[in-house]
Amino acid sequence: MADDNNDEPRGLRRGLTNYGDRDFSLYLRRSFARSMGYSTDMLNRPVVGITNTHSGFNNCHRHLPELVEAVKRGVLAAGGLPLEFPTISLGEPYLSPTSLMFRNLMSMDTEEMIRAQPMDAVVLVGGCDKTVPAQLMGAASADLPAVYLLAGPMLTHRQDGERLGACTDCRRWWGEYRGGRIDKARIEQIEGGLATTAGTCAVMGTASTMACITEALGLALPGTAAIPAVHAARLRAAEASGMQALAAARQDLRPSRLITARSVENALRVLLAVGGSTNAVIHLTAVARRVGIDVSLDRLNTLSDETPVLVNLKPSGSHYMEDFFAAGGVGALLRELKPLLHLDGLTITGETLEQRLAAETGTWVDRDVIRPLDDPYEPVGGLVALFGSLAPGGAILKRSAADAGLFEKDARAVVFASLEDLAARVDDPDLDISADDIMVLQNAGPRSAAAMPEAGYLPIPKKLAQAGLKDMVRISDARMSGTAFGTIVLHVTPEAAIGGPLAYVRTGDRIRLSVKNRRLDLLVDEATLAQRRAATPLAATAPTRGYAKLYADHVTQADQGVDFDFLGS
Ligand code: FES
Repeated sequence: MADDNNDEPRGLRRGLTNYGDRDFSLYLRRSFARSMGYSTDMLNRPVVGITNTHSGFNNCHRHLPELVEAVKRGVLAAGGLPLEFPTISLGEPYLSPTSLMFRNLMSMDTEEMIRAQPMDAVVLVGGCDKTVPAQLMGAASADLPAVYLLAGPMLTHRQDGERLGACTDCRRWWGEYRGGRIDKARIEQIEGGLATTAGTCAVMGTASTMACITEALGLALPGTAAIPAVHAARLRAAEASGMQALAAARQDLRPSRLITARSVENALRVLLAVGGSTNAVIHLTAVARRVGIDVSLDRLNTLSDETPVLVNLKPSGSHYMEDFFAAGGVGALLRELKPLLHLDGLTITGETLEQRLAAETGTWVDRDVIRPLDDPYEPVGGLVALFGSLAPGGAILKRSAADAGLFEKDARAVVFASLEDLAARVDDPDLDISADDIMVLQNAGPRSAAAMPEAGYLPIPKKLAQAGLKDMVRISDARMSGTAFGTIVLHVTPEAAIGGPLAYVRTGDRIRLSVKNRRLDLLVDEATLAQRRAATPLAATAPTRGYAKLYADHVTQADQGVDFDFLGS
């Protein structure tokens, strides 16, 4: 591996800085690299880049320095030179207006730094919500051999006999507080116990769903998606990921060889079987489109009808990610799903999925957490796409985390024109609303000022919450946290801000939801809608500079992955 006479661009000889003299460029690069104290042997080795997304603004990544050191150990042991490099980091609760707006920026940062710097393979290290899709998107576009080391989930905490884990319990307890069933002292005590270790949210939220999807796509080492962040096995996975990066470089295991139409379909099956996050539909669509693969919502519906929920995790079920790990993790799930999966695709070990699963026979599985295919937790998949006059381009409902009693409904709309309008009026005692109404939020999609935040989980109006109401139908062009529960229709496409039908709903209109028929319809005649269209200005923002302008000029709708229109393949 230390051969300096290889004509192939490799290691520090890759992608030379252009000074008009290649030999000078290499000489200069090596002399500068020597200033970091590397020996000739080290400088002649293949290079593995390691993305470091540690940040003081990202609690989920607070253990990444230790993980990166373990990755380096693996690279060195395999004969490579590990070079870590920073990219931006997206700490979910710290970004305004919302982390999704910056996912594409992070993907561009990741792609360009992988491409511009001399490396033969890369280990992507991350985990918090938008980080995984951003890094997958960037790596898919750069198309250099890439191993994904996930940050891993937090452990849960126990407080007064209650098990607490971010962030389904965050929302459940906040609902109790809003309903007046617990006091301020209790909610402050709970605040201190929801997120107590490094790692990503402890339930099957977006981060965990994307972790499972990453392993299903074959980009993470087998069995690594669910290992808790602070478990020694995660450090061993880090070391193994570093070693595997060298092997992936030798075997040219580029993301475009792993992310195929068939592995994307496997990933969709896994998303459905884990009762995963609605956000993952957007993210997987964006990742797939980076290698020229379309994800159709019609196909999602077909797969959802064929793929039962097998994993009993919050928010759809009752367990946490550490239980999923102990129960057998993604491997156990994939073995159950085997009859439904395409098994011929490559994984990052160079094995096919079939070879991987064949090597995992005889492993114990906790059947309370991961159910067999013939005795599922839910008979059909967790997500369903809806279409109709209110959502011509589709909308998403997480039926596994919703009240089935609300699935067939023809009811009066109560409309909020924006997040500000919602905040101003939702708790007004005089708000004209009943438990039987449908709440509608407008102007919270990708092109709105809010930039598609996780605001689709509209709060139940206080007077209804205090009367004991736990759920009602809520419709918006926003997203929802993967950790949330409720009968919540999201990602309505096209969004209100660019003139989608959602913009022209008014309080008092009738809306018909039929999950059985996959329909979402606004029962208003075309002449009335035409009058409203003529009288309603578009709410899309038009920033004049910087990233906000790039975003507004190029962001696509939810059915296209909310990626930039110039980044697809
Ligand atoms: Fe980072 Fe939930 S806040 S994964």
